[in-house]
Amino acid sequence: MNSKLTVDLSWDDFDELRDPRPAESGFDAVVERAVSRRGFLGGALAFGSGAAVFGAGVLGSGTSAHAMASGFDFQPIGTATDFDVHVPEGYHWKPVVRWGDALWSEAEGGYSAETGVPLELSDKVFGENTDGMELFEIDGKQVIAVNSEYVNPKINLPAESEGMARNADEVELLKKLQGVTVMEVADTGDGYNVVKDSPFNRRIHHDTPMTMSGPAAGSDLLRTNADPQGMSPLGTLNNCGAGKTLWDTYLTCEENFNGYFGATGEYEKTDGFTRYGIGGEGRYAYEKHDARFDLSKEPNEPNRHGWIVEIDPANPDSTPVKHTALGRFKHENAAMAQAKDGRVVVYMGDDERGEFMYKYVSNGTWAKGQPTDGLLSDGTLYVAKFNDDQTGEWLALTPESTGMNPVDLLVHARIAGSKVGATTMDRPEWIAVHPFKVEAYCALTNNKNRGVKPNAGGDETPVGGPNPRETNNFGQIVRWRPEGEDHGATGFEWDLYVMAGNPELYDNAYGGSDNVTPGNMFNSPDGMSFDSKGTLWIQTDGNYSNEGEFEGQGNNQMLAGNTESGEIARFLTGPYGSEVTGLCWSADRKVAFVGIQHPGGSWPDGAGKPRSSVIAVWREDGKTVG
Ligand code: FEO
Ligand code: CA
Ligand code: CA
Ligand code: CA
Repeated sequence: MNSKLTVDLSWDDFDELRDPRPAESGFDAVVERAVSRRGFLGGALAFGSGAAVFGAGVLGSGTSAHAMASGFDFQPIGTATDFDVHVPEGYHWKPVVRWGDALWSEAEGGYSAETGVPLELSDKVFGENTDGMELFEIDGKQVIAVNSEYVNPKINLPAESEGMARNADEVELLKKLQGVTVMEVADTGDGYNVVKDSPFNRRIHHDTPMTMSGPAAGSDLLRTNADPQGMSPLGTLNNCGAGKTLWDTYLTCEENFNGYFGATGEYEKTDGFTRYGIGGEGRYAYEKHDARFDLSKEPNEPNRHGWIVEIDPANPDSTPVKHTALGRFKHENAAMAQAKDGRVVVYMGDDERGEFMYKYVSNGTWAKGQPTDGLLSDGTLYVAKFNDDQTGEWLALTPESTGMNPVDLLVHARIAGSKVGATTMDRPEWIAVHPFKVEAYCALTNNKNRGVKPNAGGDETPVGGPNPRETNNFGQIVRWRPEGEDHGATGFEWDLYVMAGNPELYDNAYGGSDNVTPGNMFNSPDGMSFDSKGTLWIQTDGNYSNEGEFEGQGNNQMLAGNTESGEIARFLTGPYGSEVTGLCWSADRKVAFVGIQHPGGSWPDGAGKPRSSVIAVWREDGKTVG
């Protein structure tokens, strides 16, 4: 352990790292097994040797990576700590759309650097805190569907509000600036821009009418005073990651929906509320100004959120559908694949410390051009169990396996997962399915409670399997290969593609796996997707202090991963304070659209408020990105 490290750690962190576990836990063996490539790449990969393994040599400093050889078609960049975006030499970037930018002509000029977005234009502009997105080619047009995950009330609300909505109008403003934007984009000669007034443009927010599908639709648990049929919820909340169906619709994923609810009076704190963190005061005071969010008035309203929602970007008049068959939890994203027999498979993570990874498999099958009815409403939900021997299994959540009724086990999928003994994970974020190989990857962002505390349901979180480090502040990416090369199979083999860490500070597992070097290090992998060439793009949402354990890692970033060699190279760094999240591609693959969420300072305008934005990144020579 490096002395630089010990002075920056709190006493309890220091104790944990100095003597992290009883010898009998077999910790080192667990870690070595987890990062071994035996099952996948045919060679052993140890951790913490401190040497780079990809012919790159060890760099003296984390701030310059130019000496690093790269198997990618770009020169990896160093870390950054400033309020700007950086991309490799020969690449350029520019904002495509910022929080407050008009989607329709009538909203042009509505955003002000002093006061933000006025209420009357709030559903006519791009929302705040951009996150997951997908691009669709519709009738020769390019249409992006993109999430606005949450709002920063202090920059959206009038200064007098001090960051807490004071009346129904202020609540309405916040509601409108979240949700989903569907927008046509086009290369207009000066790079990509939003096509204002396009018939595809659409804003979906916290009051947009939706419908429900699947076993829980219309059930008692989903009925409210305002909707006694339990079929017509309003709004989609905390839209985090995304996905695209095989039939080209958009999947938006409701993550931290619990935080929007609060109580103005007495309410019953059920086991479900406890497990999902529902109760007390809402984050934005919605409950004080809209009874729908008041647990003492509408205790079932939270059951109508926490789902995967399907939106048809080709039809602006379509009603978004919340698919209950895919389970209710803090959904990160939804990665679709297909079983050998044509059934539809959706991999999903539940992003909370010690929660689970899920997979949905449809009963019906699909092929191009066939109807899609029932594919996301009639099927089986599974939860992942990982064994220490690099095998694992998807456990079906059924009335027989859980003792719960078919509705309850979907509405309270977490409780169902606990009943069957699912593996508690280090915060499952995005899942990405390899485009050419029958393999999938999940970013396990970090988990300071690993080996320290149980999850919200009381399940222990022991060190082991794909979660091999106690007090895991760096994160890792697990990948699995389904049995028989079939995403429909219940068995799989797994290993860790990368374990993030700080090799400058640690020569143990906290230094990361061997494909982490001083030249490419990062923490907290989160956004993740494959491009059409099979490169795995990794985006981070971590500690950007560049201090203590994170010294030398700089701002959040986007890296390219070669899943064959293990090589990882830094492609982009975000402005200080931001998270890099959301990635999609222009139809010709020449432009990468990248999301910059909650930037600091006054990025990107250089004055006024910071504005979460989608940027375009392209190559000077016009070749495809990456
Ligand atoms: Fe919205 Fe788990 O990130
Ligand atoms: Ca995320
Ligand atoms: Ca995250
Ligand atoms: Ca975020």
